[in-house]
Amino acid sequence: MALLVAKLLVLGTAASPVWAGSIAAWYTAYGPQVILLNDTTNEIRYSACNSRDEPRYSYTGDYSFDLGIKPKNGTPVTGVGWYDNGRTSASIWYLDEQNNVTNAYFDCNMRSGRFLSVGTWTVTSGALSVHPNSSLASVVLGEETGHRVYFHDRYGAINELLYTRATGWEYSGVISQDTNSLPALGAAFSGRENITVASARDEQNIATTRWNRDETWFRTTLPHPLEGGYATTETIRGDFVVDEATPANFSLTAWDGTTKSIGVSIDNAYTRFLWYIGNDRNLHLVANQNYTWGQRNNQSSTFWPLADEPNANLAVAYDMKTSRVWLYYTVQGQLSEIKFDNTWHTWSALQPPPPSTQSTSTNSNDTSDTGLSTGAKAGIGVGVSLGVIALAIIIAIVVLARRKKNALENPSDPEGSTTLGPDTPAPSYGSPALGYDAKEVPIQAYQLPSEQQAQQLDATTKAEMDNTARVELDNTARAELYAPPQTLYELPQHSYSHELLAEPTQHQPGQPPQKR
Ligand SMILES: *[C@@H]1O[C@H](CO)[C@@H](O)[C@H](O)[C@H]1NC(C)=O
Ligand SMILES: *[C@@H]1O[C@H](CO)[C@@H](O)[C@H](O)[C@H]1NC(C)=O
Ligand SMILES: *[C@@H]1O[C@H](CO)[C@@H](O)[C@H](O)[C@H]1NC(C)=O
Ligand SMILES: *[C@@H]1O[C@H](CO)[C@@H](O)[C@H](O)[C@H]1NC(C)=O
Ligand SMILES: *[C@@H]1O[C@H](CO)[C@@H](O)[C@H](O)[C@H]1NC(C)=O
Repeated sequence: MALLVAKLLVLGTAASPVWAGSIAAWYTAYGPQVILLNDTTNEIRYSACNSRDEPRYSYTGDYSFDLGIKPKNGTPVTGVGWYDNGRTSASIWYLDEQNNVTNAYFDCNMRSGRFLSVGTWTVTSGALSVHPNSSLASVVLGEETGHRVYFHDRYGAINELLYTRATGWEYSGVISQDTNSLPALGAAFSGRENITVASARDEQNIATTRWNRDETWFRTTLPHPLEGGYATTETIRGDFVVDEATPANFSLTAWDGTTKSIGVSIDNAYTRFLWYIGNDRNLHLVANQNYTWGQRNNQSSTFWPLADEPNANLAVAYDMKTSRVWLYYTVQGQLSEIKFDNTWHTWSALQPPPPSTQSTSTNSNDTSDTGLSTGAKAGIGVGVSLGVIALAIIIAIVVLARRKKNALENPSDPEGSTTLGPDTPAPSYGSPALGYDAKEVPIQAYQLPSEQQAQQLDATTKAEMDNTARVELDNTARAELYAPPQTLYELPQHSYSHELLAEPTQHQPGQPPQKR
C-alpha cells in the first residue's frame, strides 16, 4: 500500500505545473483566507471566501479576482480582510503593468464563496518610484485608521502608503532610508499602534522596522546589529553600517538574503515571529522573546514539509487572540497548509471547495486530494463523475492511512508542540533586541527633536518634509496622489485591537450564515 501511495504522489507531483507565484494570507474572525498569483495565467486567485476554518482552494474555475486594472506579469500580491455583517471582505494590492500600486476591494458572496468586486483603484502614480522587483505588504489598523501598504522604491528602501477614511490614499514616504535585499517583505500589526515591517536586508541579516505610538520608525537588524544599535527614518542611507565585527550569537539558517517572502506573526504574549523558507527548501523561524532575537527549533517534515523550491514564497496568517498560525506554500505541486493551534498539525494540501452551493458536504473534511490530478479536481468541481469521487475517496482513505501511520512512526517531537508556545524558553544565545524591540524603549522616542514633532502633525506634512519623496514627485504626480479621496469603501466596523474581535456565529462550512 505504501508503494502505491508513493507512486500516486510521484505522479501527482510530475503532473503539477511548477508554480512559483506570490502568495498572501490573513485571518478574519471567520477563518484564514489565502490569495495567490497564478503565474501561468497571471490571475490572482483566492480560496473560497466562505471557507469556515480551512481555506478551500480550486486550481481552476471561477475563484479568481475580477480586476478593473490588469496586473503586471509576476506581480507581488498582498491583502487584508475582515469578517463583518455576516460576510468576509478583502482589500488586496498588486502592481499594474506600469508598476503602480493598485488596490482592489471585494465583498464575499457567502453562498457561492466568490468575491464580488467593489472597485479597483490606482494608489500611486507612475512618478512614484516602485522597484521593478518590489514586494508588497499590508496591514489593516481599523475602521477610521484604515490601511498601510509597504513597497520597495528604486533604491530598495521601504516606503509606506497610508489610507484613512478621512483622507483617502496618501504617500507617507520612506520608513527607513536603508536598502534591502529584494523581494522579501512582511508586515504585522499588533493592535496596539505597533506595526512591524520585516525585510530581507542582506545575505546575512533580516531588518525589522517598527512603528510605535510616538510615531517614529525604528530600524534594527538581526542577527548582526546596526552600529549604534538602531536607526530612525532620519538616518541617512550612507550612515547604515551593520556591525559585522562583533560575532553574532546565532546565524540565520539557510539564509542568503534572496528568499522571496518573510512572514510575520504575533501571539497573545506579543512575541513576534519571523518565518522564511531557506535555500535548503525548509521552513525557518526566528522569534523575539524576552527581548532577545533567536532562531527557533525546526519541526519534522510531518509538520513543516519541504517547499518545492529553495527560497520559495510563503504566506502567514495568524490570530493574535488565540496565538494560532497558518502558513501556506507549495508542497509537491500543491498549495499546502501548515498549522499551529497549541500544537503543530500534520501539513496538508488545501482541499477544493465543495462541488455545489447546495451541498453541505459534511464529509468533505475527510477527503484528501494529495494524489489527484488537476483534471480530477475539475471533474469534482463540476460534479461530473461519481467515479472520480469514488476514486478520490479511495485515495483519501489510502492517504489518511499513510498519514496516520506516519504520525505513529514520527510522533511529534517533544519540542514540536511548544515551538510557538508561550513557555518556550528564549534561547540563551540570541541577539539582544534593540530599538523598540528592547526592554528599555530608546530614549530618543520621548525626546523628539523639532523635526520629528513636525512630522507628527499629519501624514501630508510628513510626506512633504521627506526630501526623497519631494524629489520623486513632480506636480502632476502630487496632484494625482492627493486628488480627492476615491470612493470610500467600508472598512471593518470595529477597531482591530485583537481583544475586540467579534466572535462569528457558528455554522457549517460552505453555508451562508443564517439570519436568526
Ligand atoms: C494555474 O493555472 C493553470 C491553468 O489553469 C493550472 O493548471 C494551475 O494548476 C494553476 N495553479 C495554481 C497554483 O492555481
Ligand atoms: C508595542 O508592542 C510591545 C510588545 O511587542 C509592547 O510592549 C508595547 O507596549 C506596544 N506599544 C504600545 C504603544 O502599545
Ligand atoms: C532541524 O534542525 C536540526 C538541528 O539543527 C538539523 O540537524 C536538521 O537537519 C533540521 N531538519 C530540517 C528538516 O531542517
Ligand atoms: C525571561 O527572562 C526572565 C528574567 O531574565 C526569566 O525569569 C524568564 O523565565 C524568561 N522567560 C522566558 C520565556 O524565557
Ligand atoms: C551575544 O549575547 C550576549 C549575552 O546576551 C550579548 O551581551 C551580546 O551583545 C550578544 N552579541 C551580539 C552580537 O548580539
